[in-house]
Amino acid sequence: MNIVAILGSPHGLKGNTGKVLDALIAAAKGRGADVTLFPLAELKVEPCRACDTCHKTGKCPTRDDFNTIKEAMLAADGVVLASPNYIFSVSGQMKCLFDRCCGPLHLQAMEGKYGAAVVTSGGKESAEVERYILRFLGAMGCWTVGSMGCEAWKLADPAASGPVLDAAAALGTRLVEAIEAKATYPDQLAERRAFYERMKALVTMRKAEWTYEFDRWQALGRL
Ligand SMILES: Cc1cc2nc3c(=O)[nH]c(=O)nc-3n(C[C@H](O)[C@H](O)[C@H](O)COP(=O)(O)O)c2cc1C
Repeated sequence: MNIVAILGSPHGLKGNTGKVLDALIAAAKGRGADVTLFPLAELKVEPCRACDTCHKTGKCPTRDDFNTIKEAMLAADGVVLASPNYIFSVSGQMKCLFDRCCGPLHLQAMEGKYGAAVVTSGGKESAEVERYILRFLGAMGCWTVGSMGCEAWKLADPAASGPVLDAAAALGTRLVEAIEAKATYPDQLAERRAFYERMKALVTMRKAEWTYEFDRWQALGRL
């Protein structure tokens, strides 16, 4: 079982988000998963230039680490996305990755995979960022197994940090168990189907320009 963990904090594993993600990864490894960590702070993922090349050819012309991360995501059974809350959203590093995933999103390329989200915040505002990350994962085609948020101060308080790290470990275990069980989530079906149909309509409408994507949808027998 392969899990990809992507860390969007500029502070890497030593930061708040990294500490929580580390506990999740340890639990997933303890349950037998191979986990590959991509710390975006040490990698280069530039913003999307909206050139549409990925839609036409399946390849992004920007030469940086995105392609390696994308290939790992598409080969994985599960993906964990971890980000600090930056002004009610994910970090810029993580948002660049999301935007660069526009091609795979059109292709619903993560269909059948599993996703989870981790967020840390200075205050009590993790939930909306967790929802945003889960929405991204769902739009990519993943089943989402859950998310967790944490107020930063708790990680510096020995009494408060234990339950946080336990929750992270539980989320890692839940992800592994969902992959093992090939779990499905009926409550996510309506939104997933609606987005799938939207992507199908979009790719069909733009078939003259976005030839790669239209051909892929056809080759997969979806059209
Ligand atoms: C640019 C920036 C924006 C932030 N915006 C918010 C915010 O909107 N809400 C909040 O609760 N915390 C906010 N914070 C605090 C971080 O989310 C918090 O410190 C987080 O735990 C940092 O994680 P890290 O150590 O992994 O980078 C912000 C921090 C920075 C640097």
